[in-house]
Amino acid sequence: ATERSNQSGAAPILVASNRGPVSFSSGDDGSLTLRRGGGGLVSGLSAIDDPSAVWVCAALGEADRTAVRQSPDGRLDLGGFDVGGQAVRMLDIDPGTFARAYNGVANSTLWFVHHLLYDTPVSPVFDDRFRREWESYRVYNAAFAEALATEAAPGAAVLVQDYHLSLAPALLRDLRPDLRIGHFSHTPWAPPEYYRMLPDDVGAAVLTGILGADRAAFLTRRWALAFADCCEVVLGAEVDRTALTVTHGGRTTRLGVHGLGADGDFLRERARRPDVDARLAALREQVGDRRTVVRVDRTELSKNIVRGLLAYRHLLRSRPEWLDRVVHIAFAYPSRHDLPEYREYTAAVQRIAQEINDEFGTASWQPLILHVNDDFPRSLAAYRLADVALVNPIRDGMNLVAKEIPVVSDDGCALVLSREAGAHAELAEDALVVNPYDVIATADALHRALTMPAAERADRTKRLADAATALPPQQWFLDQLNALR
Ligand code: G6P
Repeated sequence: ATERSNQSGAAPILVASNRGPVSFSSGDDGSLTLRRGGGGLVSGLSAIDDPSAVWVCAALGEADRTAVRQSPDGRLDLGGFDVGGQAVRMLDIDPGTFARAYNGVANSTLWFVHHLLYDTPVSPVFDDRFRREWESYRVYNAAFAEALATEAAPGAAVLVQDYHLSLAPALLRDLRPDLRIGHFSHTPWAPPEYYRMLPDDVGAAVLTGILGADRAAFLTRRWALAFADCCEVVLGAEVDRTALTVTHGGRTTRLGVHGLGADGDFLRERARRPDVDARLAALREQVGDRRTVVRVDRTELSKNIVRGLLAYRHLLRSRPEWLDRVVHIAFAYPSRHDLPEYREYTAAVQRIAQEINDEFGTASWQPLILHVNDDFPRSLAAYRLADVALVNPIRDGMNLVAKEIPVVSDDGCALVLSREAGAHAELAEDALVVNPYDVIATADALHRALTMPAAERADRTKRLADAATALPPQQWFLDQLNALR
């Protein structure tokens, strides 16, 4: 590492994230197919049209690893494939190390902590297995820090993303003190009393890792302040909540808030293409002239899909006037199936969906349509059709679905929104806000949303769309870059 620290590369701007802008899958004949990923970061980076920028990410599966091994220096040959101009360097991390870091620490520990997902009488258990995972997480973060140190030009700006990479900022600063380092958390941040469940050294290492950055940024002020609270309680750091700074070990890190918005221009254009029109026609056929409640999520514990379904069931049980007059369209895409909790959750979602259809369905009415495979144009079609959008996470960094639906909606859509979603900070005024644990209150909000007068719904949707697109991904990215420089 000391030897490497004297080298520098040519990239003036670097992004680091676990999941990169592209991924590979392999066919039966061994051929590799390249796919572009979605999400705010991929759109955001298109704002910089700089071919010397580098995106460092991890190889996530065997097909990615094969592609990396065929590429010189781990730089992928994208053959002109458009990911916004920059080069992609994928790290071929030992599969066992990667799995322990990604599944064991990032997704089963840090994600659970920040989203308050533990069933605390039985979990978490921090034992010797966790200690091996934690060691792998350190190795994984060090691999990123070294790759970034090698690629970065003197004084370059490096934007490190999310909970997978909380140690990387401090490790990178040790290697390359000349760099401007930013860290961005796309998740909520845990309150200190919950955060302190982590072993003391682990909790401290995650915080000092991020404080290795010049700027640590969050999606909302609420999450930034929670991070500051943890720094104060766990590290004894000095916090200025007005200036939004944290001082620890003689260095000051600025906290930033950048509320990622929906990409209005892209969505409006994409949602009116023929493939979306075709899916919209198919959904209309299924739904008839009934009203629709739409939700679109990864099948993710924090998204609270089960309570959403229970709320819909309560609506049908308690207000029979909706029988045969409403359809709930729920898209729940597969996610993180290496974790048993996610497999069990997926099964629970399917079971309750079946129960609802068994209890209320008739020969001519299917009260619930559940799709468990990902189809972006079909999601857009559902966005256009929705009379009501249900976004009820237990806790969510932002939640872009809440921002995308009002932008795409054809005739206006009432938004039922959890007060624990980051999007609540920007959309509360025109949404129907719910406590995500209260299924009766959620059912009542669904009823109010379904009965909202058309004119009011249209007015609210317009204001929601304006608020949702206030900071589009490109500007979100540039704001961070400028603030860092
Ligand atoms: C969240 C995280 C991202 C992550 C995404 C999908 O949005 O903030 O960092 O990429 O979930 O999760 P996955 O584990 O499939 O990458």
